[in-house]
Amino acid sequence: MNSLIDPFGRKIDYLRISVTDKCDFRCTYCMDEDVTFLSKELVLSLEEIVHVAKTFIAMGTKHIRITGGEPLVRKNVLWALEQIANTEGLEELTITTNGSQLSKMAQDLFNAGVSRINISLDTLKADRFLALTRKNKFQQVIKGIEAASKLPFKRLKINSVVLKNHNDDELYDLAKFALDHNMDISFIEEMPLGVITDHNRAETYLSSDDVIDTLSQYYTLTPSDIKTGGPTRYYHVAGSNHKIGVISPHSHNFCDTCNRIRLTVEGRLLLCLGNEHSKDLKGVIRSSMQHLKALESTTELEGSAALENSKELENAIIEALALKPQQHHFNLD
Ligand code: GTP
Ligand code: 5AD
Ligand code: SF4
Repeated sequence: MNSLIDPFGRKIDYLRISVTDKCDFRCTYCMDEDVTFLSKELVLSLEEIVHVAKTFIAMGTKHIRITGGEPLVRKNVLWALEQIANTEGLEELTITTNGSQLSKMAQDLFNAGVSRINISLDTLKADRFLALTRKNKFQQVIKGIEAASKLPFKRLKINSVVLKNHNDDELYDLAKFALDHNMDISFIEEMPLGVITDHNRAETYLSSDDVIDTLSQYYTLTPSDIKTGGPTRYYHVAGSNHKIGVISPHSHNFCDTCNRIRLTVEGRLLLCLGNEHSKDLKGVIRSSMQHLKALESTTELEGSAALENSKELENAIIEALALKPQQHHFNLD
């Protein structure tokens, strides 16, 4: 088995793995201020995460993106990153972070084998940053971005969620900041993820087309066919090596070319972001790992029984893939 194909013929070779639900920020569009995080026994251990990642790679996964919560607040995450990055068959290990730990971890991430980092930054104004993230860590994030930009990562990207009347007057400043730091940037339409937030999404909605119209006053933008295995539609910026992108779940559905699934830190495989289709793999991940451990220390006969058992996880993944829906069903409510 070396490729995963879903019921609509899409090749699924991109896995997003959440390594923690915890975060040191409390972005208003993502979580409540007094959020309760999962208790330890409910979350996969790093060993289990590495095991499931290796299983996916053996089944044809080429690109793994590590996410959270904030992935870099998980203790010993560098160990897991290194294990995954060094697995034969994987073409790319990437990470999405809020940037708060980057000033101390950028070099370690590079050494561990992370090739690309996406960093969330919605504003360049410290007071707005505090209002949006509820944490006073603007300077820390800027320092982190600067540290990462000095290292030879294959690519760095800023992610900015665009919220009308909150940061839509900063589109050019954010784009300029990214390009000046040798980075690309994606402007994202807000999605109904995470908690039901206290604002009305329809009121803060700004379409990606409006974003591109605004930026076109400052830059000559030409649509690019570059694909990163993500939902971003990119534009070349004349006179720069970098790109400005938009992620438009509302205005330009990108489900036809979907190549991805995601694993939550509780071991649930989500087949689509905007649908409830999912399969709980925690039990089978745990039993499969126990059997693999047994394999390392048993006779040949018991060993082959254990190997049979590790197929259980592969079979569960194949069964789960059959649940992948054709598209998401986001609306602005
Ligand atoms: P690359 O293209 O590899 O750089 O990654 P990415 O932009 O897909 O990943 P990132 O983690 O930076 O996510 C950027 C935004 O895209 C976030 O708001 C994600 O929630 C969103 N996103 C990523 N994958 C999907 C997807 O499959 N469906 C939807 N609806 N949104 C997605
Ligand atoms: N809608 C769109 N993007 C979101 N992100 C977090 N919550 C939402 C949302 N509701 C973005 C973050 C980060 C990436 C992982 O997802 O800003 O860049
Ligand atoms: Fe944390 Fe990212 Fe959610 Fe903000 S959007 S609270 S940084 S997980």
